[in-house]
Amino acid sequence: MKVSERLTSLPTGIFSEIDQIVQAQAAKGMDIINLSVGSPDRGPAPHIVNALSDAVCDGAKYGYALSEGMPGFKKAVTEWYYNRFNVSLDPEKEVLSLMGSQDGLSHIFLAFLNPGDLALIPDPGYPVYSAGVLIAGGEIFYMPLLKENRFLPDFEAIPQDVARKAKIMVLNYPSNPVTAVADMDFFSRAVSFAKKYDIIICHDVAYSELSFDGYKPPSFLETRGGKEVGVEFHSLSKTYNMAGCRIAFITGNSKVIDALRRLKSNIDYGIFQPVQIAGIAALTGSQDYVRETAQIYQMRRDAMLDNLANGGWKIPKPKATMFVWAPLPSQYKDSKAFTIELLEKTGVVVTPGIAFGRLGEGYVRIALVCEKERLDEAAKRIISAGICG
Ligand SMILES: Cc1ncc(COP(=O)(O)O)c(C=O)c1O
Repeated sequence: MKVSERLTSLPTGIFSEIDQIVQAQAAKGMDIINLSVGSPDRGPAPHIVNALSDAVCDGAKYGYALSEGMPGFKKAVTEWYYNRFNVSLDPEKEVLSLMGSQDGLSHIFLAFLNPGDLALIPDPGYPVYSAGVLIAGGEIFYMPLLKENRFLPDFEAIPQDVARKAKIMVLNYPSNPVTAVADMDFFSRAVSFAKKYDIIICHDVAYSELSFDGYKPPSFLETRGGKEVGVEFHSLSKTYNMAGCRIAFITGNSKVIDALRRLKSNIDYGIFQPVQIAGIAALTGSQDYVRETAQIYQMRRDAMLDNLANGGWKIPKPKATMFVWAPLPSQYKDSKAFTIELLEKTGVVVTPGIAFGRLGEGYVRIALVCEKERLDEAAKRIISAGICG
């Protein structure tokens, strides 16, 4: 049986390789502290769980859902958006529900790219962006995210012939894995670039609510002209700890949203209605739990990075996300080799930066997805293994 070239073009998982080593170490009895996957360890707020459980008990909620999202969910999105970003949206034309932002971020390229068309993708970046382009048969120009540019792409450095050919660009701030943030000035430059070259901007804003020290990430759609050129992908996975209870949404340019809606109406039947009802409760209910969740990540960030700094491994503190992007201790160069050594010596699992692109080399991503006590234990093991530099 021969699989498609499309499938073989997708990277084979460094993640599954690490996973196999994790399982082998666990089978030997090693106590594993898994800080590799960005899956929230807290559950949703009680009012969200209650809304879900009530709806699940209602037999009338088991029919096919509307592919584009229940009107109540889209209305809740517009209210949330206005309250949070002061951006007005038309719930009919400028909002579409998604089965997780991964759904939208992978399918958007099928809606816009013909084979050979070009997409501008950040390196390092969340893997679904490049996978989505490859599935659509598109080509990728990687925009380097460099520390000296605060991990923002340099639009001036994109060759003109590339910019002219590009149809779509992905941005992601606060970003995974590099944990960088962007300001309105950067977004304005992105809008000018997109207008000049007729490029659609897809801004992935999955971490907009997990921010620290009083910082509030902006929406790309707050930018003048933002809605003319782009869309934004939000997710309830991290904001409301609903990662397995799949729901997200896209907002912004109505033509882009209409294209994705048409594509998706050929692929799926929408999100299980009780999940949409839970999503409405999340977006319209008290946001106290969201603030509490962000504070917990901030407290974990401080504990982990202060401990590691005391042990000699200095890692910058991020302003947002649930991750830290850690430059390897000076004696290491290879992020995969470092990850494996760390795992075998300490049982602590992180993600090698190379898994996010060529320019992720030299870093590892640490997800703050354990209680503080476990993170303290992880730091203690890392320091006593003598791998902090
Ligand atoms: C940057 C980013 N975008 C999108 C996603 C996908 O989230 P979901 O499909 O759960 O909405 C993730 C998940 O980790 C992510 O880190």
